[in-house]
Amino acid sequence: MALDKQVVLDALSTVKHADLDRDVVSLDLVKELKIKRKLVHLSLRSPTPLFDEVKLLAGRCREVISALDGAPTDIEVEIEADVLGAPAANRRVLKDVRNIIAVASGKGGVAKSTSAVNIALSLRQAGARVGILDADIYGPSLPTMLTVDEEPTMGAKQRINPAVANGLFLISMGFFVPAGRAAILRGPMVSGYVSQFLANVNWPELDYLVIDYPPGTGDIQLTLSQQAPITGAVVCTTPQDVALIDVEKAVAMFDTTKIPVLGVIETMSYFTCDHGTRYHIFGEGGGAHIADRSGVPFLGEVPIDPRVARGGDDGEPIVEAHPEAEAAVAYRNISRSVAAQLALLNIERGNYLESFSLKWDAS
Ligand SMILES: Nc1ncnc2c1ncn2[C@@H]1O[C@H](COP(=O)(O)OP(=O)(O)OP(=O)(O)O)[C@@H](O)[C@H]1O
Ligand SMILES: [Mg+2]
Repeated sequence: MALDKQVVLDALSTVKHADLDRDVVSLDLVKELKIKRKLVHLSLRSPTPLFDEVKLLAGRCREVISALDGAPTDIEVEIEADVLGAPAANRRVLKDVRNIIAVASGKGGVAKSTSAVNIALSLRQAGARVGILDADIYGPSLPTMLTVDEEPTMGAKQRINPAVANGLFLISMGFFVPAGRAAILRGPMVSGYVSQFLANVNWPELDYLVIDYPPGTGDIQLTLSQQAPITGAVVCTTPQDVALIDVEKAVAMFDTTKIPVLGVIETMSYFTCDHGTRYHIFGEGGGAHIADRSGVPFLGEVPIDPRVARGGDDGEPIVEAHPEAEAAVAYRNISRSVAAQLALLNIERGNYLESFSLKWDAS
């Protein structure tokens, strides 16, 4: 006797998505379930990119099905990503982008750009379509931190086609102004460039656009937060006290513009010497403490690794050049949390895409 579909669904309802802490049935991740006498075919979709831990879902579903009475030995399980995003109908800009992530801080030099690049690349490595916007008009660094394969070009109607670097779509002031010249722009001109980057670039269909904010919480940052339909913000800090005060400013800025803060990343947290001893050079536990005090999640800590700095100078970010390094693993885990939080945020707001046809169980 062939298996009953409901029996299979009941079994699948015991399997949780690795990052969403909800089961695949109530999350409506079963796209297709076919049962023939000798074969079960299950097609799953994930609202987050296919990080290795998410892919394990397929194996766990196979296990629970094969443990059922009368289960055939031929069980096919496939999984694909269908990253959730907000509907673009009400937007004036970035209509083809599902999620927009701001990477910001109240202070300079706390690894915002490094974090933006490594988060963007981790999401891309997991199969997502990702763009990155360098909003640091005065001090653009992304064309150096990445390896540019295609320069931006001018498209029809004076619109800019973004550059392509390390598989990411990229736009940066660094492409348009010779090094050193950007610093002489006046404030309103800078805001004008930021608006152009949002409205006048042919961003293709993207699951995520990561925006690397300039340091601080001034006019440009505020303009950006008001003009870009940002889904959520990530705030970077180092463990020092002065940096932590600036985290509160950045969190307050996003609160003012009603942008959810997805969490705090502590960078340059510690250094591990060759003998394995960890040195907390700039202090310990500050990032987690400030996240707690600000009522936002703590996304993780990234250790000091000279290869991170070198990779930034050479256009070879750590998650690509040394994917096994502790700092790379940290960035991947942070990216998983960011993707999971965005998915949950979209679920909460009812932003499921058409293909997610069944109702999400709100319980
Ligand atoms: N985990 C790390 N280990 C070692 N060096 C790092 C690490 N993270 C960042 N750096 C280095 O610290 C410096 C500052 O990083 P980054 O440029 O990303 O900061 P930022 O916040 O974007 O700075 P700015 O405010 O100027 O835009 C860079 O030289 C970078 O390579
Ligand atoms: Mg920067």
